[in-house]
Amino acid sequence: MTAASESPQASAPSLAFDNDELAADYERLSATRQFESGKRLAADLGIGTAERVLDIGCGTGLLAEYIAGLVGPEGRVLGIDPLPRRIGVAKAKVRANLAFEVGDANDLGALAEAGFDVVILNAVFHWLPDKPRVLGQFARVLRRGGRIGISTRPPNASGGARLPMYEAMAQAMAEPPFDRYPRPSASFVSQVEPEEMRALLLAAGFMPTLIEVRPSVRVHASPEAVVRFSEASSFGNLLGHLPPELRPAARAAMAARLSALMTPEGIVQQGRRLVAVAVRQ
Ligand SMILES: C[S@@+](CC[C@H](N)C(=O)[O-])C[C@H]1O[C@@H](n2cnc3c(N)ncnc32)[C@H](O)[C@@H]1O
Repeated sequence: MTAASESPQASAPSLAFDNDELAADYERLSATRQFESGKRLAADLGIGTAERVLDIGCGTGLLAEYIAGLVGPEGRVLGIDPLPRRIGVAKAKVRANLAFEVGDANDLGALAEAGFDVVILNAVFHWLPDKPRVLGQFARVLRRGGRIGISTRPPNASGGARLPMYEAMAQAMAEPPFDRYPRPSASFVSQVEPEEMRALLLAAGFMPTLIEVRPSVRVHASPEAVVRFSEASSFGNLLGHLPPELRPAARAAMAARLSALMTPEGIVQQGRRLVAVAVRQ
């Protein structure tokens, strides 16, 4: 995501920019660090055999598939995501204890009350602007004593100023002709500080047991790889505000700016993750 997207006046990202190529890219590009942070969150949650787990914003289903292995044949995992193409990719992983459905965190009304032992959101919470609403939905589908685990991007993920990588992409978009197409809303990611996370969880009826900010390093092989990952993980919101014919030039302009950040190892993104685990009271 670009730093240009980071602002307190966040609104929901568009769900209309995804396409088959971005979904296929996401499956490939999320298999490293994103997947590792999901596995670590599953360990923080202590997911065990026979548990019923809801993976919200499951994307293409890599983490849900892994969790299906943790819960075993006596458990079950449901992955939901509002993007039909991502669910289309995920469905290749379906097995007896693993299902996927198109669904939105803002409305879990189709799911039974207290039907899950665990709710997990890996790299999703910052895409959800109405935190009290979604946390209320999560509390409804969790049984008492059930756990929620959230791994998300906190504000100023570099611990101070914007990450240089985001700064470079924002600078490219501030130049003509791209500057003629401002984003429709000031921001489409909604990040929270650890204290806000704690307060939100308590207000929704959860008792936090872990709230921690961890370093999160991602290495991109090339400037183009940064742009590709940012497009795929934002389901097209990175460049979706531009007319389609301008997007190739925008990718090239971003890559040109990003090339200044190349090291012999690649482009190193020194970010942070906010991890929270809480128990439904
Ligand atoms: C960066 S991906 C993370 C995917 C997956 N959890 C993983 O660990 O790879 C963010 C996901 O959040 C999903 N998302 C966005 N808005 C959502 C909403 N309102 N409800 C549920 N999921 C949403 C997107 O569709 C996307 O698949």
